[in-house]
Amino acid sequence: MSKTKVIAFANNKGGSGKTTTCSNVGCAMGLAGKRTLMIDGDMQMNLTISYFDEETALEFAKSGKNIYQAVKEEKDLEDCIVPTKFEGLDMVTSSSLMSGIEFELFPKWQREFVLRKCLSRVKASGKYDYILVDAPPTLGSWVMNILCASDHVVIPVEASPWGLFGLANMFEFCNLSKQLSPGTEILGIAITKANERKKYFRQTVETLKELEDTRLFETYIRIDSAIEWSQDSSEPVVAFKKSSRSAIEYTNLTKEIMKYADR
Ligand SMILES: Nc1ncnc2c1ncn2[C@@H]1O[C@H](COP(=O)(O)OP(=O)(O)OP(=O)(O)O)[C@@H](O)[C@H]1O
Ligand SMILES: [Mg+2]
Repeated sequence: MSKTKVIAFANNKGGSGKTTTCSNVGCAMGLAGKRTLMIDGDMQMNLTISYFDEETALEFAKSGKNIYQAVKEEKDLEDCIVPTKFEGLDMVTSSSLMSGIEFELFPKWQREFVLRKCLSRVKASGKYDYILVDAPPTLGSWVMNILCASDHVVIPVEASPWGLFGLANMFEFCNLSKQLSPGTEILGIAITKANERKKYFRQTVETLKELEDTRLFETYIRIDSAIEWSQDSSEPVVAFKKSSRSAIEYTNLTKEIMKYADR
């Protein structure tokens, strides 16, 4: 059996920190010497532009070497992998055409398992220690594909008054995915954009700690302007400014994620 672990970053709540978490955890894994593949599953292409400038991202989108083309044509993902500038850290980039992915999936046989099939060879090859998938803020066939292709799901939750809104739907969706793919487990919830001085931060922590059967990662990510600066430079903060508090927090969160995913 392949030792490669596939981890999805998913939450139907928009702006909860999925892409920032996926890009930084991926980079921290790469910096720790783990061979890692990141897959941008969102039409917004934010994971792609976390690593590549806009021009390069648009070239990948045009070339057909991207997640949309692979899923549409049910191609092996191995042919769509591009290297990032970090050693051992690769990516399957996205395209704005992902906006039509539900339409493409609809007539397909076993449509919840298309991504799993596209990934099967690269996963079985054992070439990567981890494969991370950044999901869009939706709950449909495509996100079901992402969950069914994953061993673990990390749910980033924003520590804001509306951060917990819709989380019950996310849990319900994960339960549904387990019916199709019994091996898919929620690895844990990661709190993002935390401001310890705000009452709602403490309320978010307390509410999430009370959840039965769902781990809350000990490390939470505080609001940090270094994240925005890093995104402006198409580089994850763990590489852009290693001494920043968000870089340190993301490195610690990555250690937790690897510890539990490898159990
Ligand atoms: N710790 C942080 N400190 C400051 N800003 C942050 C932090 N984490 C994320 N952000 C900002 O919050 C915004 C949303 O983050 P991100 O894109 O990672 O969320 P998302 O869940 O992927 O969004 P979407 O649902 O649209 O895909 C971005 O502008 C990002 O720069
Ligand atoms: Mg995103």
